[in-house]
Amino acid sequence: MPEGNFGLFFVLFYLYTLAFLYKINIMFIKSLILKNYRNYSNLKLDFHSKKILFIGKNAQGKTNLLESVYYLSCLGSPRAKNDTDFIKWGENAAFVSAILEKPDFETELSVKINPPQKKELKVNQVKKSKSSEFCSHLSVVSFSVNDLLLLRGVPEDRRSWLDLAISQIYPAYPDRISKYNKIRTQKNNYLKEIKGNISANTELLDVWNSQLCVAGSNIIYLRLKFLNELQKIAVEKHFQIAADEYFSILYNSTVSGDINFAAEQNITIENIVQDFQKKLEERKTEEIIRAQALVGPHRDDVSYFINNIESKKFASQGQQRTIVLSLKLAELELIKQKINDKPVLLLDDVLAELDNNRQNYLLNAIGNETQTIITSVDTVLFGNEYLKDVEVFTVENGAIE
Ligand SMILES: Nc1ncnc2c1ncn2[C@@H]1O[C@H](COP(=O)(O)OP(=O)(O)O)[C@@H](O)[C@H]1O
Ligand SMILES: [Mg+2]
Repeated sequence: MPEGNFGLFFVLFYLYTLAFLYKINIMFIKSLILKNYRNYSNLKLDFHSKKILFIGKNAQGKTNLLESVYYLSCLGSPRAKNDTDFIKWGENAAFVSAILEKPDFETELSVKINPPQKKELKVNQVKKSKSSEFCSHLSVVSFSVNDLLLLRGVPEDRRSWLDLAISQIYPAYPDRISKYNKIRTQKNNYLKEIKGNISANTELLDVWNSQLCVAGSNIIYLRLKFLNELQKIAVEKHFQIAADEYFSILYNSTVSGDINFAAEQNITIENIVQDFQKKLEERKTEEIIRAQALVGPHRDDVSYFINNIESKKFASQGQQRTIVLSLKLAELELIKQKINDKPVLLLDDVLAELDNNRQNYLLNAIGNETQTIITSVDTVLFGNEYLKDVEVFTVENGAIE
């Protein structure tokens, strides 16, 4: 290559790399199809705006709609335990599909739930056998009225929130969770077999334990990494709403004790494995007596503090809402940083539960650069400014106008 050309090539390459690095794409759902999904028999929607509003009375199917988008992002849902929950009652199969637009290309995602067969995942009409290949395309952040109960709810809800959020960043995470749960089920079955017999031969238990330790340490490691980064952003968000309060997070682990994220953490997977092995050994007899796996990420919890006081017991309703709002906005920001795309935001009935101040903060924080799908009972809550370029659909009994 002549020298002049080489220089030009170098400059172009540099500019291209720079543009690539700094370009954060917007994920845009262009269309959605539901067949026998929850209370929808047959629905096809096209979206033309970044702001979408579903209006409807209670029990008409607004949450179901958002849930279907959520499901396409990670093949999970905060309110379903089983894939069969999604199938319209009386039907045998459900189908969900969407076209996702990024500036340079489109991706068609589709799932057919048709038990007892394995669900069929397709990306651009091509079958995918691994859920991680499917879950790497669409990312969403969901903020629903139930999330406002996150602090006071049961630990399972907080774990589920954490795991679903991490799934948006690490598409392989849901697979790891199911692998861990499979090993845990096998361990539990064995514990039930030898129930209470502390002199039983525990060789098989040791085998399950060592597998559980490897799979579980990985999960705890990813949770800690996520919370560590989330706290940094959430503290800022929280400070913008309540300047006199300092917000912090604690991960309460059955494996490694309480872990805070105030100081820079040097979390290594080796340390977690060591703690895990130690705790499994310490509580082995107790596990045999109670015939239950008592140690591991399935028993961990998260707690939130304002000015070092635990919010679960002491925070006012307003303070709790500020915490959840900060966490959700931090989640949005963190996912954006991690995947270099702006995830789709789903706001389910949540605005009605926030006061004016927090509503405005939320709508301003979202800005115009995120596709936002909102459900509400009516449009009263939204100022004229917000409603200007919003696309409004009316939901009634599993159909949409
Ligand atoms: N698998 C299902 N098949 C048919 N209907 C369902 C299914 N799951 C939930 N529903 C119905 O969907 C309706 C609730 O929809 P939802 O989206 O929660 O309403 P909302 O508009 O209040 O958000 C309820 O009437 C419920 O009975
Ligand atoms: Mg609802």
